Formats: sequence, structure tokens, C-alpha cells
Amino acid sequence: MNPDIIPRSVVVKVLISEENIQRRVTELALQISNNYSVLDGFFTSPRLLIIGILRGAFIFTADLTRQITIPHEVDFMALSSYGSTTTSGEVRTVMDLREPIENLHILLVEDIIDTGKTLSYLHRILQGRNPASIKTCVMAKKPHNSISIPIDYLGFEIPDVWVVGYGLDYNNCYRNFPYIAELRAEIYS
Ligand code: PRP
Repeated sequence: MNPDIIPRSVVVKVLISEENIQRRVTELALQISNNYSVLDGFFTSPRLLIIGILRGAFIFTADLTRQITIPHEVDFMALSSYGSTTTSGEVRTVMDLREPIENLHILLVEDIIDTGKTLSYLHRILQGRNPASIKTCVMAKKPHNSISIPIDYLGFEIPDVWVVGYGLDYNNCYRNFPYIAELRAEIYS
């Protein structure tokens, strides 16, 4: 992306460029494809269901699934832990899956781990539905989170700053930036 069109009034700096994100997505998709394809009986049953967590993971999920070369299905769940600009600390299911997941391999795709509450909550409720397995794929992880489940596929570790772009928002804006950037404090303070 042309650096001239980075909106300097909104972002301090780009933390992860579009090129680096796309390179990492390709690497993750390759790893995921390889790891599932060697599972016993993968190409007969059970199946792989990739679950994108809305709203933040919609772009990552779309990019990732288009580069995964093994058969899979895609669905979405919408969860919310934040008000428009601040966290409430409580995770809610806003939209559930359409179908049961019993005996399916599940890959959860998340844009960011901040506190870790969203992914921990989702892992817990899906575990109760008896899938064959649950793995996690996260684009960006902040330090100081409380996550206790493994992150099987991680894009990047990022600093503890407010980030926007590649699906990440402030007040539901800036998700469309193709990079991940640090938001100016003047915007949120
Ligand atoms: C954001 C983000 C993650 C979650 C991470 O979602 O997309 O899902 O917060 O935070 P946590 O690790 O502290 O739980 P949000 O609840 O803001 O909803 P959104 O995806 O609609 O933006």
C-alpha cells in the first residue's frame, strides 16, 4: 500500500505491514494444510470446520481460508466483549453456529488476543459440544493476557497498544486498513 495514504491523523505508525501480514497468512495456511492432511482418516472423516470470530476476524478468515489447500467448511460466530470503545470484561454470544459440531475438527480464527477472555470463553463452550478437536489460529497477540488454552497458530506478537486495521477496530471504524497500526491516543482518550 502506498505509505502516502496512511492516515497520520488516525495512526501513530504501522506495526505490521500489509506485505508482512500476507506473507504470514500464506505461512500459516501452509502449516494448517500440512498438519491436518497427515491426520489419520482426515480425507474421509471427520471434517474440518473453520470458525471465524466476528466481527474482527472476518478479513483474516477470508484470507486464510482461500489459501488453505485441504477440504474444509467455513462458519462464523459473533461474540462481543467490548462496548463501542471499552471492554466490559463480559463475553456474550451474539450469533451462534448454524449446525452441531460433534465429531468435527474445529479451527477457531481470531484477529487478536487482548485479555484472552473471548477465545477462552469460546473454547469452553465449544468443547462442551463434543468436537473431534479444537485448534486456534490468531493473527495478533498482546502480552499480559490471561489465556490458558494453546494458541496453535500465531501470526504476530504485538505491543500493548490500541491497534486498528486488518479487521481490528476503534468504535467499529478502521477495520479496512490493510495493515495493523497503532491508533493515536488522541482518538480514544
Ligand atoms: C475484539 C476482537 C477479539 C476480542 C479480543 O472483539 O475482535 O474478538 O475483542 O479481546 P479479548 O482477548 O480481551 O477477549 P470485540 O468484542 O471488540 O468485538 P468485534 O470483533 O465486533 O470488534
